[in-house]
Amino acid sequence: MRIGILKDKEDKRVALLPEGVSALAKLNVSIIVEASAGAGSFVSDKDYEEAGAVIGSEQEVIKDSEILLKVEPVSKELVAKLKEGQVVVSVMNPFFNTELVTLFKEKKITTFGMDIIPRTTRAQAMDVLSSMATVAGYKAVLDAAGRLPKFFMMFMSAAGTIRPAKVLVLGAGVAGLQAIATSRKLGAVVEVFDVRAAVKEEVMSLGGRFIEVEGAKDDISAGGYAVEQTAEFKQKQQQMIQDHAIGSHVVICTAQIPGRKAPLLITKDTVGKMNPGSVVIDLAASTGGNCELTKNNEAIVYKGVTVVGNSGYPSDMPVDASRMFGKNLINFLTLIIDKDGNLNLDFEDEIIAGTCLTHDNAIVNERVKEFINNK
Ligand code: NAI
Repeated sequence: MRIGILKDKEDKRVALLPEGVSALAKLNVSIIVEASAGAGSFVSDKDYEEAGAVIGSEQEVIKDSEILLKVEPVSKELVAKLKEGQVVVSVMNPFFNTELVTLFKEKKITTFGMDIIPRTTRAQAMDVLSSMATVAGYKAVLDAAGRLPKFFMMFMSAAGTIRPAKVLVLGAGVAGLQAIATSRKLGAVVEVFDVRAAVKEEVMSLGGRFIEVEGAKDDISAGGYAVEQTAEFKQKQQQMIQDHAIGSHVVICTAQIPGRKAPLLITKDTVGKMNPGSVVIDLAASTGGNCELTKNNEAIVYKGVTVVGNSGYPSDMPVDASRMFGKNLINFLTLIIDKDGNLNLDFEDEIIAGTCLTHDNAIVNERVKEFINNK
């Protein structure tokens, strides 16, 4: 079987680095890579050839491959070029890309969304959301530190004592926890808010102070994720967040609810009351943002406060982001490729069934199917 790596034209990451090509070759498959696919991650076509891959045009990669790999979802134009029965594995963002899901289904393309992989212990080594959130949480703090007109750390010098920066992290999932850890390593004082009380201990173990708002709704059936909160809770939470944001120099927003618009946590009024020079980094920008002023892929300044809408930090750290993505991908591919290098889709396996978006003219993932049917 041949596996093709498509170039991500809008993103610096690549689905598999040359080290991943060598690892995949052990599965008895051959690999074709689209020319300059690794350029954004500082990898040349020659590096891929040395790892055992052949280089081809986009057309050649599509023509010759049974499985196609990519980081970001393929474009609608590219779907038109795919062949019936071909397999595509990438991030799919299906709740926001429903048209694309329908196209895959109609063209009988088998698709696997690395972003809908079940959040189980067994699937942890394949979890690209966790890998990319780790990169985003780290990079968001470095971006904030670069923009902040003061030190993160406290120190004493002959010129006096510098007080540490105060960072408020909203949402303590994977990105939030990494943002806490990075902020603490840089010496900031960190406060954290999340609707899931279950994260309190983790936050404290990283040196963050957990802010509690009474009355949060937790739902065990949400599989560890947050759920939509009541209007009364939202009101209380907004006041509490405002009180803490006003005293902070940096706010890192990471709160998300899978498949829904991100919760609005920082109002324009709150930003207006923050210290001029403060920085808000909104990682939830692509799903609407946690801050009312967030503009996706833009940095704006409001009353002296910079609000950065960026859900694309992993693309700004493409070397390690691609490395982590590729490792997750290989772990997943070993589930769907047998020892002779043939495709083997066992839909009895909960990871394969849960990650499969479309197969044979049907939507397979239950959550996506329900979402699209109720639209
Ligand atoms: P996410 O990106 O969906 O959300 C980020 C954080 O925002 C979450 O902690 C969520 O509780 C919080 N949030 C949502 N609404 C909020 C609001 N109104 N105010 C404040 N905070 C709010 O979450 P992520 O990082 O993908 O992980 C969430 C959970 O998923 C983990 O804590 C864990 O339980 C589970 N997980 C399991 C994995 C596995 O077993 N393979 C891997 C990664 C995560």
